[in-house]
Amino acid sequence: MLIAIPDMLDADQVGRVRSIIDAVDWIDGNATSGHQSALAKKNQQLPEGSDAARAAGAIILEALGRSPLFIAAALPLKVYPPLFNRYGVGETFDTHVDSAIRIQRGSDFRIRSDLSATLFLEPPEAYDGGELVIEDQFGVQKVKLPAGQMILYPASSLHHVTPVTSGRRVASFFWIQSMIRDDAARRILFDLDQGVQRVTAELGGKDRAAVQLTGVYHNLLRRWADA
Ligand code: NI
Repeated sequence: MLIAIPDMLDADQVGRVRSIIDAVDWIDGNATSGHQSALAKKNQQLPEGSDAARAAGAIILEALGRSPLFIAAALPLKVYPPLFNRYGVGETFDTHVDSAIRIQRGSDFRIRSDLSATLFLEPPEAYDGGELVIEDQFGVQKVKLPAGQMILYPASSLHHVTPVTSGRRVASFFWIQSMIRDDAARRILFDLDQGVQRVTAELGGKDRAAVQLTGVYHNLLRRWADA
């Protein structure tokens, strides 16, 4: 399932992130690659674990924690500290699948990547190309969102970034280990959550049906979740 989070960062937060990451030096994007993706990737990355990456990442992590849509869609157990990349003219990332397990260098933090996230940090009209192309079970989806918007997609999907032909694409990317490992089960819970919210809004939180459906949601979560 692909889910766009429209209001992940507001304009002020995008500005703060950009002022931090634009002020420091970037390195070759292959610093974090596994062997297969190193062959496919041609871009630049902010050094992982650098002060700038940490400070800009903290703004994003805080926003994630305040987003009901992100929490309902991802049901996050762990979030990898956000990374940042940019693609200049001619840069690209060929078709690949993200590594299943990510271990943060120099720490004991490890994560199973259930979901991949790309948070766009450059207005789409400022560059050509640089679309994120995701092959999921419904076909090929091309994604290029306004600055501050984020796409969540299955980490198991094949995906690539088309070459940038003018301007520069800037984004944050990271992975989420969900409490719900299975994409289809997570989708059911997301749909149920959205339905419960609608019923609760229409009938009130004390309505018997709203209470029962909320109970079903939590009991499915209890049955399926790793917490
Ligand atoms: Ni990827």
